[in-house]
Amino acid sequence: MSTINPKLLDKFIRVSERAAYGASKFRGKNDKIAADKAAVDEMRSEFNKIDMIGRIVIGEGEMDEAPMLFIGEKIGTNKGEELDIAVDPLEGTNFTAKNLPNAISVLAVTKKGGLFSAPDTYMEKIAIGANLPQNIVNLDNSVETNIKKLAAAKNKKTEQLTACVLKRPRHDKIIKSLNSLNVKINFIQDGDVTGVISVVDQNSSVDIYLGIGGGPEGVLAAAALDCLGGQMQTRLVLNNQDEINRCKKLGITDLNKKYNIKDMIKGDVIFCATGVTDGDMLKGIVDKEDYFEASTFVLHKNKKISKKVNNNIKK
Ligand code: FBP
Repeated sequence: MSTINPKLLDKFIRVSERAAYGASKFRGKNDKIAADKAAVDEMRSEFNKIDMIGRIVIGEGEMDEAPMLFIGEKIGTNKGEELDIAVDPLEGTNFTAKNLPNAISVLAVTKKGGLFSAPDTYMEKIAIGANLPQNIVNLDNSVETNIKKLAAAKNKKTEQLTACVLKRPRHDKIIKSLNSLNVKINFIQDGDVTGVISVVDQNSSVDIYLGIGGGPEGVLAAAALDCLGGQMQTRLVLNNQDEINRCKKLGITDLNKKYNIKDMIKGDVIFCATGVTDGDMLKGIVDKEDYFEASTFVLHKNKKISKKVNNNIKK
């Protein structure tokens, strides 16, 4: 597939910055719904300034449950390139409501047809960093097997590895297995987009991400790993008939399929994540009198762009 017009990159950065700014006004206000809405409103209005025929593939939900940025919503000025877009205007609604680290606004863009249309269900995820042999970890392996294979590939002992895991009771079995191998665990309370990306972050000690989180967040993280050379495998977790029906509506027929990055992201991709609150990867929004400062992690696969951008933006 061809390259997304690089002139659009700055515009997508601005979308992500604006969404983060919207959410930042609700830091510590104990109102995650208002924070999310502010991020959605800002994101949508900024997207609609861009010359593109944009379509939300991963958004805030389906049309009947989300007033804006719903799956299938058309965005942009309706002229220019046809693009598919995944958004999480506010990843870490709790973090924002409580003014805790690691809330971000995040988006990914591909050419039309380049994004896996994941339903808003849970998803099993396993991810490792760059420059490792292909397919050494697999969701069908036990945690023990995956950890031992990773340790061998990194020429390390299992106790020298660190795993990132969302702190949830559903992960007790994974945690027990990691403990049995003395693997260090970096627990996160929320925000598994950042958690997955930590496997490729030079400043992080995380070697592997394991566990179940949101499906949309899985595709967004896959977009970042695709640009940075990491490996990731996912599988939908469907708990009831309604979730199965939603998959069918999205055209998913094999409900047990394991998705590698190339199944979730096809062709060129742009990824932007802006800090709302200060975090491991990014600084949060700094609100000044007539402008705000925003820090954004920017990736563009085909252009081999990977950078952190700090901008001052007029309010
Ligand atoms: P929100 O910001 O939408 O609240 O999501 C945060 C998050 O932690 C995601 O990063 C993660 O994928 C998901 O929630 C996990 O879901 P749950 O809280 O139900 O375990």
